[in-house]
Amino acid sequence: MPNMEFRSRWVVVTGASSGLGREIARHLARDHGANLIIAARRLERLEELARELEADAGVEVVCAQTDLSRAEDVEELFRVATDGREVYAVILNAGITCFGEHRSLEWEDLQRMLSINVMSTMRLVGLFVPHLIEAGRSGGILLVSSMAGLVPVPYQAAYSGTKGFLINFGRCLWHELRAENVTVSTFVPGGIQTELLDIHGLSKHFKRSNPMVMAADVCAREAVRALQRRRYMHVPGLVNRVSLLLADLMPRRLSTSVIGAEYKKALATARTT
Ligand SMILES: NC(=O)c1ccc[n+]([C@@H]2O[C@H](COP(=O)([O-])OP(=O)(O)OC[C@H]3O[C@@H](n4cnc5c(N)ncnc54)[C@H](OP(=O)(O)O)[C@@H]3O)[C@@H](O)[C@H]2O)c1
Repeated sequence: MPNMEFRSRWVVVTGASSGLGREIARHLARDHGANLIIAARRLERLEELARELEADAGVEVVCAQTDLSRAEDVEELFRVATDGREVYAVILNAGITCFGEHRSLEWEDLQRMLSINVMSTMRLVGLFVPHLIEAGRSGGILLVSSMAGLVPVPYQAAYSGTKGFLINFGRCLWHELRAENVTVSTFVPGGIQTELLDIHGLSKHFKRSNPMVMAADVCAREAVRALQRRRYMHVPGLVNRVSLLLADLMPRRLSTSVIGAEYKKALATARTT
């Protein structure tokens, strides 16, 4: 199948009110001329981004205030996105983490994370794939997972599980859809400088200067390229790819122990400062 061409086509981006999703939306509008349906809970942030991109890039932007932890909002997002328009691509980027010893985390927070990271993604893929096939324009979907889905991350045990789910789910769908005119690609970033790290105090330990932490705009370009080129799975950044190779050379128990020790320190730093 040819590479994707986003110009003047409609692309859905979830989690576009901050971080990676906001940079993906900016890159798609400014450099690819894509029209956007941007989704998140914070409507004022979405509207601000829509004004910015409509003025700078001359594209059309629809804001969809959506809480992806609510099943009815997930259905509504699909309805709004496809209402009178043909969606060409979908970037399922929204995600949250729960940081800490699993036994100390609140069940409600864990349920919310499962609903956003796993349930909403499964449902939206199930809804958008038939829409994209019917549109017949060789569209695509990008799932935003994490390296935490490839290498277990203690103190983010359940998050790591949700991201592992996305990697297996995405890779299975890539194969299932091979005979169709639609691709599902899986994007697997390491650390990114976003609010997700700030919210949980992780940025106190994993500083901006850390070569393992990518700038959100750099990561966003790689995400869009992975979708455009219909990659099976893509890990952005040479540092991340090398660290994964090294992790693969060690027994998994040892690499998990090294990562666990680092996150244990991060947890202590987050609690004490
Ligand atoms: N930052 C990292 O180090 C890192 C590393 C690997 C993978 N990732 C993945 O990258 C993706 C983007 O994260 P980020 O780093 O850009 O974090 P972020 O800056 O915190 O952005 C998260 C986005 O998800 C949205 N979101 C959160 N809860 C939501 C809900 N209930 N309903 C709808 N949208 C919701 C947020 O919007 P509202 O709050 O306005 O709803 C926000 O736009 C996530 O899937 C994350 O797991 C991040």
